[in-house]
Amino acid sequence: MVKKMSKFEGLTVSPSQVELWNPELPVSGQGFRCQRGEFVTYWKQGRIAREVRSHLCRCWILRYQESLVGYFTLLADKLTVQSPWLETEQVQYRTFPAIKIGLLATDKRVKGAGSCLVEWAIEYIVQTLSPVVGVRFLTVDALYDPDTGYDSSGFYQKLGFRLVNPDESLPPLHGYRTMYFDLKPLIDSWFSMIGARDEVEGSEPS
Ligand SMILES: CC(C)(COP(=O)(O)OP(=O)(O)OC[C@H]1O[C@@H](n2cnc3c(N)ncnc32)[C@H](O)[C@@H]1OP(=O)(O)O)[C@@H](O)C(=O)NCCC(=O)NCCS
Repeated sequence: MVKKMSKFEGLTVSPSQVELWNPELPVSGQGFRCQRGEFVTYWKQGRIAREVRSHLCRCWILRYQESLVGYFTLLADKLTVQSPWLETEQVQYRTFPAIKIGLLATDKRVKGAGSCLVEWAIEYIVQTLSPVVGVRFLTVDALYDPDTGYDSSGFYQKLGFRLVNPDESLPPLHGYRTMYFDLKPLIDSWFSMIGARDEVEGSEPS
């Protein structure tokens, strides 16, 4: 029997392929196969288009020809914690400016698409948003399905996210566990890099 080739056979993805999506850009989602069917429905039934039109989020995609490979949304967020964080930095807040990954979904036939999208998001926030607006954390409500045991937190953990409440008992009350990624080291590095670059560009020729 001849095995049917997937339309994504051999496809490799890279952050340079990530595109800002808008509802006028026709990417139907036909044939999009995500591990969780509801994420296919969100796309096909226009939930994301409605949220984008209402300015509740922005959506980025990876596609191959006309086929959707993956998508994610970003929105403004506020991370709230139980006791003050960042005391070593002489600030004692319990709430912090953050950007949130709202939805994230990939076609299960394409390896590496999820990490590609999150890595792109981190770079985008560090290089483009953080120079113009205070943002310390990237957050996500990591889906946990008590009925099937599906838990997306392991995926985020591999990328450096941590649980906000590691002691929370399972299953979590709302079907997700909030996680955060501390952007400070990357923002510090980016600022010292662009500072160094500005010094070179601004210096008078000898
Ligand atoms: C979660 C999701 C976005 C991950 O995307 P992906 O394209 O499968 O991720 P990648 O191929 O980049 O995987 C990166 C690593 O994470 C691992 N990983 C993926 N999902 C995982 C999970 N649920 N738990 C633990 N590890 C996971 C992969 O095995 C891979 O490990 P490796 O680097 O050691 O090989 C995707 O599985 C998905 O769309 N799930 C359904 C929707 C969903 O849960 N979205 C997140 C809701 S908050």
